[in-house]
Amino acid sequence: MDEITLRRPDDWHLHLRDGAMLEGVLPATAAHFARAIVMPNLVPPVITAEDAAAYRDRIIAALPEGAAFEPLMTLYLTEDTDPGDVRAAAASGLVTAVKLYPAGATTNSASGVRDMDRVRGVLEVMAEIGLPLCVHGEVTDREIDIFDREAVFIDRVLDPTRRAVPGLRVVMEHITTAEAVAYLKAGDDSLGATITVQHLMLNRNAILAGGLWPHNYCLPVLKRERHREALVALATSGFERVFLGTDSAPHPLHKKEAECCAAGCFTAPVALGCLAEVFEAEAALDRLEAFTSLNGPRFYGLPPNDARITLQKGAPIAPPARVETGAGPVTVWSPGRDIHWQVV
Ligand code: DOR
Ligand code: ZN
Repeated sequence: MDEITLRRPDDWHLHLRDGAMLEGVLPATAAHFARAIVMPNLVPPVITAEDAAAYRDRIIAALPEGAAFEPLMTLYLTEDTDPGDVRAAAASGLVTAVKLYPAGATTNSASGVRDMDRVRGVLEVMAEIGLPLCVHGEVTDREIDIFDREAVFIDRVLDPTRRAVPGLRVVMEHITTAEAVAYLKAGDDSLGATITVQHLMLNRNAILAGGLWPHNYCLPVLKRERHREALVALATSGFERVFLGTDSAPHPLHKKEAECCAAGCFTAPVALGCLAEVFEAEAALDRLEAFTSLNGPRFYGLPPNDARITLQKGAPIAPPARVETGAGPVTVWSPGRDIHWQVV
């Protein structure tokens, strides 16, 4: 097979930033995706319905002429979030999910949650109205090894929270471990998960072997090969509660190639071609559409897109090394091997 047509994909986890960066990176996503769950970790964060409405307007204003792209907005959960504001934002159709960042877990997460008991009222409203909670699933305790933070989060925070708030719909975002795969599979229909392109293609050697590779550094950090294999097996299996969330997370070059490198891989321009490569290697191209275009809408209770997109296979493609933005150049992530598929 050297051509495949899919329902137009959605990206169920995306960072678009704001201002000049937003203008610079939005075209890459709008070119391939119909919708995206837009992360609220701006500075300052998107906390209230009013914040989300204003941010949505800025995204729409930054869209290229003629682009058909719908941003699906999220609210950044804080210990002061007003349950009534969340209820109203969901009822009006403005927001599609609420995002949980454990405070200190990742980029711009300082306003996140320290004590889950303090957001119980919001979570109960969300369970009542069916509004999903998108979870950055890592503990922040300094004594926990960074490679173990996801598995420990599942035991210490995620599972107790789901038991305390029955019916809460949860998306385990950017899962990276075999433990997360097992927990997802054992769950019921209220539990879904997203996987990024880099976690399907690379293991932690891609950060640390032969030098230090900042453009492969993201959070949760890449794990051992056996975890990558578990993620690929899940994504390509046709399992219905897992879907694409690229976590494409642009940072200007000077923040990546720095003494302290910012976490995030800017994958949006190459994500779909890379995924076709992964699914083809597993002889699972016939399941790619479920992962990119069907499972996510099903979980979120939205219709799949009617438009179609075609990928073709040919000679190795040469994506641009970087995208120039008004906020500086952004390096386009590369898996470090030839990719033969691209959207045409
Ligand atoms: O690598 C990451 N980058 N992980 C996150 O959780 C946040 C993101 C960002 O905003 O840059
Ligand atoms: Zn993210």
